[in-house]
Amino acid sequence: MTGHAKSHKVAIIGAGSVGATTAYALLLSGLVAEIVLIDIDENRAIGEATDMAHAAHFTQTRIRAGTYADCDNAAAVIITAGVNQKPGQSRLDLVKTNYAVFESMVPQIAAAAPDTILIVATNPVDVLTHAAHKLSGFPVQRVIGSGTAMDTTRFRHELGKAYSVNPRNVHAIIIGEHGDSQIPVWSLATIGSMRLKDYCSQAGKPFDKEHTDGVSKRTREAAYELIKRKGKTNYGVASVLVSILDPIINNADAIVTVSRVGNYEGVEDVALSMPCKLNRDGAHQDVPLLLDADEREAVRKSALSIKEVIESCKS
Ligand code: LAC
Repeated sequence: MTGHAKSHKVAIIGAGSVGATTAYALLLSGLVAEIVLIDIDENRAIGEATDMAHAAHFTQTRIRAGTYADCDNAAAVIITAGVNQKPGQSRLDLVKTNYAVFESMVPQIAAAAPDTILIVATNPVDVLTHAAHKLSGFPVQRVIGSGTAMDTTRFRHELGKAYSVNPRNVHAIIIGEHGDSQIPVWSLATIGSMRLKDYCSQAGKPFDKEHTDGVSKRTREAAYELIKRKGKTNYGVASVLVSILDPIINNADAIVTVSRVGNYEGVEDVALSMPCKLNRDGAHQDVPLLLDADEREAVRKSALSIKEVIESCKS
């Protein structure tokens, strides 16, 4: 893809709370020239896009409702369509319904935009990233799941709160499943320019297991808490989706923990999140990550649990 960010079009599939909030966040970001909002409920897409078009007056970005055909020449297509978790439901509980949605939708998107990059947000996002790769026929680097980019953001938020530091100064990642088997990589976490363990000992801050387990639990269970309180999540994931799109549009080689099909600790043909380099060609896995033995075993178990669900979709 060539040309300045301002010349790009992005399509968003799904005008529900995540899709509409993502469209609004993208509109305000000024990242692209045009947004097309697509939903099986055309009235909903037209209503959301028209309401946002009244705000576009204050930005340089145009927004309109459209159909799958309007994905043509899109720099990226963000897929948020599908049912969301209800209180008490896990993301994996949604797989049968949302896999069927993808079987119908993804081939139509791929036919309209054969050179685009798919960014999948619909849950279970790792399983559906794998499904989007198979159903579109796109190379793995052009099918990206938002994955644990959301959890990494929450992890940094929780660590920033725990240690009274701006989350921007916390480098810590969550890898694996965007779900219950996610893995916080404590061994590589840093605050400022110091390893977290050393930062805590120098600053006299707690770093015992009880403390770290609490941070991991709040990160892992954040979505469940929000769904209990407000019935959904939308703002965090919308900004995370824009943060994934940004280095793609700007060809910026940013390292983000996103979900991508690959071979993880010997488990082949499965999608889960690892640090990937994002640019205009998609997500690239040539990012070294030195995990300890426990973390590598946790990745293998996470990959096996996702693979099990992927296999169940074929039955
Ligand atoms: C969440 C959804 C995006 O974690 O899975 O908020």
